[in-house]
Amino acid sequence: MTVHRLAHRGVELDPPSRTPPAADQRDGVFLELGVKVRRTRGLLAGYETTMSLIAVGALALIQHPRQRELLQQNPALAPSAVEELLRYTSPADFATFRIAREDVAIGAVTIPRGDVVLAALASANRDESQFSDPETLDLTREPNRHLAFGVGAHFCLGAPLARLEGQIALTTLFRRFPDLRLAKAAETLRWRRGLLLRGLEQLPVVLERTA
Ligand code: HEM
Repeated sequence: MTVHRLAHRGVELDPPSRTPPAADQRDGVFLELGVKVRRTRGLLAGYETTMSLIAVGALALIQHPRQRELLQQNPALAPSAVEELLRYTSPADFATFRIAREDVAIGAVTIPRGDVVLAALASANRDESQFSDPETLDLTREPNRHLAFGVGAHFCLGAPLARLEGQIALTTLFRRFPDLRLAKAAETLRWRRGLLLRGLEQLPVVLERTA
């Protein structure tokens, strides 16, 4: 079996020839094996993605005053708000790489055995066949079966923590600073470059109204 795995922020690529550990030999047309998570980079995985959710989520709320007001007036909306921000801003653009174990037909396309597959989560999260009005930020959206944390065997291990952090950070931020606004034009904000993660380099804000 020639399998190897690239990774979600912090995973090292093992040589394809390496024998996979028995525990990883499971069925399925897509298989990922030979993973070594470097602890430090693994930590960044949890840090960078959640930091991005908070920063980009805050930006989305600043840019959608009615939605922001809704959350400020009703903090109990936080869980649903964070789900929608995860869908709408998708901090991870892509899932981890998969390798096809055999030819796989998906719709009109056949993925040949051995090919690398990179699923675009951010695109799936704007799929109009799944979400009504997908380009609209709606903090009350229900149902909201987004793929921001991936799906299946490798569903994000840190999802509950990220959700909680997002809920606490965003509700606290807008409660503590109800007049929070951007310190510079949104068009001039710099976005970080990278294949897997999406985020801002900085989010300069003015915290309080100046009299
Ligand atoms: C908003 C924050 C986060 C987002 C959007 C996110 C997103 C993702 C995605 C898309 C995957 C790949 C799923 C797949 O390929 O099917 C993943 C995997 C993973 N995430 Fe996260 N993540 C976040 C926060 C965290 C945190 C806080 C931690 C740890 C404290 C964490 C640890 C992991 C680990 C260990 C995996 C690999 C799971 C596996 O391969 O079985 N993530 N995450």
